[in-house]
Amino acid sequence: MRLLFPALICILPIIVACGPDLDAIPPVTEQMALGMGVEKAQLARGREIYMTYCNLCHERITPAKIDPEYWREILPHMSENARLRQSQLHDLQTYLIAAHGTVYQLDLQH
Ligand code: HEC
Repeated sequence: MRLLFPALICILPIIVACGPDLDAIPPVTEQMALGMGVEKAQLARGREIYMTYCNLCHERITPAKIDPEYWREILPHMSENARLRQSQLHDLQTYLIAAHGTVYQLDLQH
């Protein structure tokens, strides 16, 4: 019993370090493209748009911080804010949802 507390203190940082990194803006990978069933180039365009336009009025709200459903809901409004074209909105949304899944290590097929 006396060993339990020190053991917990040693294990805790490992658990925390292994949790999802909510500030990550993950680079586009082949795996992401396969998971979403899209071209890698489309995700790369989406990430580029995100990096260029999504910190003009507020800090970048990173992909993992918002659920896919809420991304779909809020992005039309935010893309109007950033004056994006429809195709840019589509690329951005695809990247953000792929990146969300990547940070949480979800199976993107679902
Ligand atoms: C012209 C300014 C502007 C630009 C550009 C902009 N936003 Fe926003 N964003 C806002 C404002 C203002 C709010 C506050 C609430 C609202 O208007 O809905 C907000 C809120 C949000 C929220 C909701 C946060 C929450 O906790 O509910 C998200 C997510 C978001 N923005 C993402 C983005 C993304 C992604 C982009 C890039 C396409 C973007 N924003 C570009 C002004 C902007």
